[in-house]
Parts: sequence; C-alpha cells; structure tokens
Amino acid sequence: MGYSVRPMNADDIPQVSEIDREAFPTEWPPPSFKRELSSSMVRYLVAVDESRRTVSNATVPKRSMWESLVAGVRHMLGRDDASTQVADVQDAQLIVGYASIWMMVDESHLTSIAVRQGHQHQGIGEMLLIAIINLSVQMKAQVVTLEVRASNRSAQALYAKYGFKSVGIRRRYYTDNSEDAVVMTTDKITSVAYQTKLRELEAKCMERHKAAVPASG
Ligand SMILES: CC(C)(COP(=O)(O)OP(=O)(O)OC[C@H]1O[C@@H](n2cnc3c(N)ncnc32)[C@H](O)[C@@H]1OP(=O)(O)O)[C@@H](O)C(=O)NCCC(=O)NCCS
Repeated sequence: MGYSVRPMNADDIPQVSEIDREAFPTEWPPPSFKRELSSSMVRYLVAVDESRRTVSNATVPKRSMWESLVAGVRHMLGRDDASTQVADVQDAQLIVGYASIWMMVDESHLTSIAVRQGHQHQGIGEMLLIAIINLSVQMKAQVVTLEVRASNRSAQALYAKYGFKSVGIRRRYYTDNSEDAVVMTTDKITSVAYQTKLRELEAKCMERHKAAVPASG
C-alpha cells in the first residue's frame, strides 16, 4: 500500500466532505471547505491512497433533479459550498483522510483530523499529524494546540503519542451533547528535544508505510 500526504485543493472537496460527514455526523453547520481553502490562515492536507483511483462518482450523494438545478445555479454564481459542490470525482485519487490547521500568530490550532473508517488503524492519522506538525514549523508556529472530546480516547492516544499534553477542560464545549473538550498542546515544536522525538516517530511511520511523508506546504 502507498499513502502520501499533499495539500488539499478544490477538486478534493466532495471526498473530504464525505469523510467529514462520516467522522463528525452531528457537527452543524458542516464546514464550508471552499471558503476555508481560500483563507490565508487555514491549511488543509489530505492523505491519498496512491494505489487506488475512484472509478465512479458513487461517493457523491445522489441529488434530486431540483437539487441538481439549484446546485448548478449556485455553481454558476460562484456560491457553491460543501453541500452544493458539483462533483466529478471520476478517475480522481482516493482520499482516505484529511487534517486542517488554523494559524494564529505563533500557534497552529488543529481544527480537524479524520480518516475514512475503512482505512483507520493503518497509521494514516499519524501520517497526517506528522505532516501537520511539519507544516506548522514551516509556518513559524511554536506550538500546536487542539480541542478533543473528553470521550474520544483514540484521538487522545494519537495526540499523546506526538507529545500533546492535556492543559485544561472547556466545559460543555460541544453543543450537540454538551460534552466537555480536553484542551491539548505540544511543547515547543521547534525545540531540539521535540524535533528529535518527531524524527524518530516519522522514521517509524515511514518504515510502516514504505513511503515518504512530505512536509507539505
Ligand atoms: C483519530 C483518528 C484520526 C486516528 O486515525 P487512524 O488512522 O486510525 O490512527 P493511526 O492508525 O495513525 O493510529 C495512530 C495512533 O493513534 C492511537 N489510536 C488510533 N486509534 C486508536 C484506538 N482505537 N484506540 C486507542 N488508540 C488509538 C494509537 O496511539 C495509535 O498508535 P499505535 O498504532 O502505535 O498504537 C481516527 O480514529 C478518526 O478519523 N476518528 C474519527 C474522527 C475524530 O475523532 N477525529 C479527532 C477529532 S479531535
């Protein structure tokens, strides 16, 4: 298997929307990927399966004739977003995960990370997180921060592996079920100690995938 990580582009929106809906079904409203991709403060990366192409547009939700018409008009007006994107994913790379950051001065905030359910537990989340940390260094961030649901133990384990520590709780942060968020942050990501540990983990991850993890920018 060969996975790689690259910056997301507008053609990826239908597949990333699909992964987002699968991973965060209660999040409302869904992110407007088109708007976020044009923001200078936001960066999205996608993980792609090099060995597979999508062979049809079956991953795109079917529309009624009326929905297609509305989507077409919105597209012509340049107002399409995640929910109205007119998609043609035939012969596109298969996207298996994505991650995003929001840059705030010298802090990179991990706003989202998700891997398709059928591709989890293969180190793709790790590949994405490594690429996000590398990108954060390139963008002159000193730390990476995030919020994670208190119940989301698997994500917390991933973050802990990469040196994120719990530094606080935001009570009833998630509006769908009033769940608390755990606030996590790294040490200084440019420090020798952090970089040494990151390079060790990256080497192990690359060995696992036998593929490079680019410091995508
Ligand atoms: C969190 C998520 C991105 C992890 O992606 P993944 O590709 O399955 O993770 P990886 O295979 O790279 O695992 C990396 C590490 O994460 C941790 N981890 C991942 N899944 C885990 C699980 N079910 N239980 C415990 N730890 C887990 C482990 O530390 C693992 O390292 P190891 O393989 O050395 O044990 C994925 O589970 C996901 O998309 N979840 C739904 C969306 C989500 O909750 N995102 C986080 C929002 S804050």
